[in-house]
Amino acid sequence: MKGVLLAGGSGSRLYPLTRITNKHLLPIYDRPMVTYAIEAMVDAGVTDMMLVTGGTHAGEFFRLLGNGHEYGIERLLYAYQDRPGGIAEALGLAERFVGGDQVLVMLADNIVERSIRPVVERFSAQERGARVVLSKVVDPSHLRHLGVPELDGDGRIVRILEKPDDPPSSFAVTGLYFYDGTVFDVIPTLTPSGRGELEITDVNNWFVSQGLMELDVLDGFWGDAGESIDAYYEVNDFVRAHGANHAEPAPD
Ligand code: G1P
Repeated sequence: MKGVLLAGGSGSRLYPLTRITNKHLLPIYDRPMVTYAIEAMVDAGVTDMMLVTGGTHAGEFFRLLGNGHEYGIERLLYAYQDRPGGIAEALGLAERFVGGDQVLVMLADNIVERSIRPVVERFSAQERGARVVLSKVVDPSHLRHLGVPELDGDGRIVRILEKPDDPPSSFAVTGLYFYDGTVFDVIPTLTPSGRGELEITDVNNWFVSQGLMELDVLDGFWGDAGESIDAYYEVNDFVRAHGANHAEPAPD
């Protein structure tokens, strides 16, 4: 399985910090944010990776990661996104790298408490289609900043709403997505959303409409450190106290 790590975007929600660096290079506890997503992927056995970034601080990623070997990455390729055109557009840049394989896409501002290895193994065994990873989020005001699935009585996804005023469930769609090679046929059919971006939620809803979307629910903490300055500090506090990417449930 290939890995695509998305580390672009304008980071406008973390201005003015992101005027002087890329959001994904800001510290989470004692190291740059992006290294947590890398660790999550590498620990799950995904070591053939492409990092997609953009903007004026793209070069700093080379300085931090180099060829990736120090981080356990077998092969690290880089792609440059000319403008912040959305998660789906950024993923489109990885088409030749993925080359029809299964792919794990991870947003580099997402941080998880527990290993994602079990989820990676379940997708490896999935014949076709896509898989999203949900996290229980009870606070509706938080859900209004995220993708939220509507679920049917069997616990299957009916559709995903992006930043809904009225969240249809208490789950967030995290920034961990799994696709088969057909994802690259879907991306060119998308049209930009209200925020002028190609939305990953539109990609996911295509797989939902085909009956090809599976899901997992994460155990333990999940945070999107790029969501707001408060979320950034919440993730920092959590990681400082408890760490991240634990193979076994963390002791109390
Ligand atoms: C993106 C997705 C959203 C998802 C979130 C997770 O939001 O569009 O569906 O819940 O990542 O981190 P964005 O960070 O682009 O606002």
